[in-house]
Amino acid sequence: MRTELSLAPISDIATELLAVLAADAQTDKGLNTDIAAKPQPALLTTDDAVEAAAAGVLGTGEYKAGANETVLIHAPAGLKAKRLLIVGLGKLAKVTVQGVREAAGTAVRFAKPRGIRELAFALPSSEGLFHAMVPHAVARAAVEGALVGDFDADTYRTERKDQSVQTLIVTAGSDADQPSIEAGVREGVIIGESQNFARSLVNEPGNKLTPTMLGERATQMALEVGLGWEVYSTEMLHQLKMGAFWSVAQGSAEPPALIVLRYEPEGVTDGPVLGLVGKGITFDTGGISIKPADNMEKMKYDMAGGAAMLGAMRAIALLKPKVRVIAIVCAAENMPSGTAQKPGDVQTAMPLAADKPGKTIEIINTDAEGRLVLADGLTYARQLGATHLIDAATLTGAISVALGKTTGGVFSNDDATYAKFAAALAFSGEKFWRLPLGEEYAELIKSDIGDIKNTGGRYGGASIAAEFLHTFAEDTPWIHLDIAGVAWVEESRPYVAKGPSGIAVRSILEWVRSY
Ligand code: BES
Ligand code: MN
Ligand code: ZN
Repeated sequence: MRTELSLAPISDIATELLAVLAADAQTDKGLNTDIAAKPQPALLTTDDAVEAAAAGVLGTGEYKAGANETVLIHAPAGLKAKRLLIVGLGKLAKVTVQGVREAAGTAVRFAKPRGIRELAFALPSSEGLFHAMVPHAVARAAVEGALVGDFDADTYRTERKDQSVQTLIVTAGSDADQPSIEAGVREGVIIGESQNFARSLVNEPGNKLTPTMLGERATQMALEVGLGWEVYSTEMLHQLKMGAFWSVAQGSAEPPALIVLRYEPEGVTDGPVLGLVGKGITFDTGGISIKPADNMEKMKYDMAGGAAMLGAMRAIALLKPKVRVIAIVCAAENMPSGTAQKPGDVQTAMPLAADKPGKTIEIINTDAEGRLVLADGLTYARQLGATHLIDAATLTGAISVALGKTTGGVFSNDDATYAKFAAALAFSGEKFWRLPLGEEYAELIKSDIGDIKNTGGRYGGASIAAEFLHTFAEDTPWIHLDIAGVAWVEESRPYVAKGPSGIAVRSILEWVRSY
């Protein structure tokens, strides 16, 4: 999708489809009357011709401007656009930047199946109703939403018609704050494309994206955007004594990939070094503790945490924040085989320093493999000098039991670092909720034979897994994101296709930028 900005009067834009926003301005709760308060859909575009063209349908009461509710007007009088699409944002008093992000996605997903290849999206007018929103943030979110909305997962369908929207014209009216909107559009393109890059990786099946191929995709991206990169395999895992990572990889005919990306902005030689660590299990069968057949095909998305880190690094390379960042993706395939590890095996994790012993891990369940590869990934990031850590992983089914399929889990050993992440969520529009770590969870993973075991029972599974990782992050300020419940969208929504969500790319990026 190509994105351009137009400051021409909205009614002068000749395009296939012009999308404008509306919200329900009704404030009367109707408490003291028998008659239910009627919705009052109001356009958020100040343009006489658009208002005149929309007046008919807005007056009937059939359109309520609910969130992502649409109505289409063909050949709108007085407009150069062939079609006028009104997209709702819900109650005016509760409109958010995230609402605009979704509405832009809704407009694109309205256009796609109808073969409409070009659309103009009118940003809400900066005057009046919308004064509380920063134009830059609104423009950025609209472009992100449009790009994210344009993605569909059916990449291997032979009869796939390319129905992508090819041109997005962002229109802001001639009185708009041009530099700030331009900057917002530019950022939105980078971030939306980076999120889609992550989604395209997550979408790949296990046979089309092995750990080696994930390493190649990361390399290609690094070369494109100018990141430092290294991709290692089996030999380096042995050299670094990554016994936990290797214990997962050893059961597969596919070699593992240890992917390292480096962002080193010129002139930045001190200050924090942020370490991004992603779980990159390209397929999780469970190993010898094999998973049931039902839904196992979904386990191709067990590398979504790693993909999120690659997407975030792409955006970081292009947006150039003034902070050093290292990303590590631990990619492997978790398979049962004659060389696979077994329950009861004891593994030795990577030591933080060569003269120190690595922690010993008793394997109770080979399906708790994500925490094993991340243990060595976190240690490696610390060894490479990371002063602050963030990891993302489709780590536990338990996180979905706790938070459902729309909110991710976040854990942290440091309130100040967590506060920065919480602030990042306001910009990203993504939903995460903090859950506890604690000594009582650590208690559950003490081993009788070694230092720690890799599972600790059914209850509090997400916190137990997080506490396992905490053993390796130790006292380095650290954020852990459990995205198992939110990395895959099960049902299409008006603004996003079912399939890989690309969750966490935007929040990780904003967290990095906050340094
Ligand atoms: N990759 C899974 C977690 C997962 C489950 C991701 C569902 C996405 C959807 C992870 O490796 C796993 O198998 N976790 C186990 C841990 C258990 C053995 C302690 C789980 O959650 O059942
Ligand atoms: Mn597993
Ligand atoms: Zn897994």
